[in-house]
Amino acid sequence: MEYAAKITGTGSAFPRNRVSNMDISQKLAQSGIETSDSWIRERTGIVERRMSMPGNSEEYNSSLGLAAALNALKMAGKSPLDIDQIIYATCTPDTILPSTACWLQHKLGAAKAWGMDLNAACSGFIYGLSIADQFIRTGQVKTCLVIGAEILSSIINWEDRSSCILFGDGAGAAIVERTQEASIHRILSTHLLSDGTLWEMLHVPAGGSAQPVTPEMIPQNLNKIHMNGREIFKVAVRTLTSFAVKALKKNQMTVDMLDWFIPHQANLRIIEAVAKRLSLPMEKVLINLDRYGNTSSATVPSMLDEAVRDGRIQKGHIVLLDAFGAGLTYGAVLLRW
Ligand code: ACO
Repeated sequence: MEYAAKITGTGSAFPRNRVSNMDISQKLAQSGIETSDSWIRERTGIVERRMSMPGNSEEYNSSLGLAAALNALKMAGKSPLDIDQIIYATCTPDTILPSTACWLQHKLGAAKAWGMDLNAACSGFIYGLSIADQFIRTGQVKTCLVIGAEILSSIINWEDRSSCILFGDGAGAAIVERTQEASIHRILSTHLLSDGTLWEMLHVPAGGSAQPVTPEMIPQNLNKIHMNGREIFKVAVRTLTSFAVKALKKNQMTVDMLDWFIPHQANLRIIEAVAKRLSLPMEKVLINLDRYGNTSSATVPSMLDEAVRDGRIQKGHIVLLDAFGAGLTYGAVLLRW
């Protein structure tokens, strides 16, 4: 018997605390750094983002993941004991050890599952979905929980105005289940690539085993995000476009056959440039960046969840998920809902 994988439930969760552009400009002003609501809106499309309260265990990465997972399970009509596999995409885990997947498993009571973390930064959910698809198609797994969740506020460099304005916290989840290969409602194809030569464009220098954090590093923000935004912008436009084309080509489809495009939500100008290159009307592009900022691996699953719940994504729709992230990493998934 030949298997395929399909998403049967989605969920999302965000911290309660809203941080507006004005809040950020006031915070930066205390250190003599200038920014404004109008600059952030015009250059990024972001209006506000959510940030968890440090130390609040209800807003840990795994807690947001738990809330998103429970929503997704409910939609799929499944219980935690139905889960065989947990793939937790994150670059801001609760702890280095154990994995956030294991924290989530514990909180969820998913006693029959095995879980692991996956770090592909903002492409994480797409990588996770691709791995779930592979395990399901080989028959090893029936039901997989894929999470993309981040507490990026824990690694924001508040002395870098070009990056601190972009990021937020949140979680998205999907239940991925076995179906028959002949089913039309399934993941149609997955496409992954990374380019480690571009590591410097977005990295956190210290905090890993290569450079454990020392007290001297903290004032230099070496344990926070370092980013070359202008260069990432160019690579992002190029690769989001080429991965969209690759996924459509693989399935003998054309852009006009797409019902919805869910790109990684990093900057509205990146998304608009990609839509233009693809000749895709912006009405078909799903955007939640204005309300949540860039939540890395959570952007794609949380946007998917929102559009499934409000009825924009309907049964039979062709949906393209497309992302890029630190690494650099790239990935796309084409599916029929
Ligand atoms: N407020 C006011 N001025 C600012 C700000 C700010 N917050 N940030 C930068 N500027 C200034 C710069 O200093 C520069 O001034 P100068 O001309 O006097 O030197 C000017 O604005 C233009 O700077 P650019 O870097 O050219 O601005 P740009 O239009 O490229 O916008 C941005 C910067 C928003 C970072 C954009 O390049 C971007 O979004 N890049 C992509 C970043 C990204 O996607 N990162 C996430 C990757 S995914 C992941 O894995 C997490």
